[in-house]
Amino acid sequence: MGRWLEGKPVADRVRDKVKEEVSRLLQRTGRAPGLTGVLVGDNPASQSYLRMKEKACASLGLRGRILTLPSDLAPERLRAVIEELNADDEVDGILVQLPLPKGFDTQEVISWIDPRKDVDGIHPTNLGLLLQNEPGPRACTPLGCLELIASTGVSLEGRDVVIVGRSLIVGKPLAAMVTNADGTITICHSKTKNLPEVAARADILVAAMGRPGFIGPEFVKDGAVVIDVGSNAVKDKDLVLRLFGRDEKRLKEVDDKGYTWVGDVQPGVIDKAAWLTPSPGGVGPLTIAMLMRNTLEAFQRRLVLK
Ligand code: GUN
Repeated sequence: MGRWLEGKPVADRVRDKVKEEVSRLLQRTGRAPGLTGVLVGDNPASQSYLRMKEKACASLGLRGRILTLPSDLAPERLRAVIEELNADDEVDGILVQLPLPKGFDTQEVISWIDPRKDVDGIHPTNLGLLLQNEPGPRACTPLGCLELIASTGVSLEGRDVVIVGRSLIVGKPLAAMVTNADGTITICHSKTKNLPEVAARADILVAAMGRPGFIGPEFVKDGAVVIDVGSNAVKDKDLVLRLFGRDEKRLKEVDDKGYTWVGDVQPGVIDKAAWLTPSPGGVGPLTIAMLMRNTLEAFQRRLVLK
């Protein structure tokens, strides 16, 4: 029987350090790091994520702001808004909340952001720096996964790390970060053959495909560290009961639209794993803490350049 790897205590340590440094820099420079979140449209999950990010900014002394734009905005208008933010000296970090509404080319929109202000670490320049193992802003969720793994005392060096999911914001950057830290990486996806067998070779297994409860005990080696990046809104109560059991707390936590939030990993995996992150409450708090750290670092880099 393994242990739950809760995100909050690990995230709190990161946040405390950021808060201290923000206050020190405010005294020295009279300015606090500024983060602007751009929301296009009214996706309720995106609204709620951005509100959490804005709250985190306020609690750590950063200047957080959300710009809300209509979903029928012309792409050239969005480009003009991003270019204004690029030129705005008060803005250290820019985050365009994904997914964007239909009609926008996500890669193109990301490429409009000044790479020095790309606190999501997904601008092509920053992904290139990551592959070169050179310093630069890194994607927040992969950074959070590494912080959680480090908190268990398990080193990545020489470990077999299997990531299920190949997104540009989680799976691919995490694979590069693990490689840079001397882990041996396997990326799996929907076309991977014998997925349970491949996953069960992992010393460290990261589930990041966005499929509720897909990873059961048969995917997990005894004593593995399992990181659940999944955060899925599910309406089907029978599915929740079948895969996640009668967890009264989870069943009570139904949001105002009737959704229950679950991860990609079934809780029964805890019987085999050494460590398992809960979802919600595992990776999520780290993603936000890393965004705060990235914004602080973007501010610091701009100070040095001035
Ligand atoms: N949507 C879901 N996760 C993220 C994230 O980390 N950054 C951005 N910009 N959008 C997201």
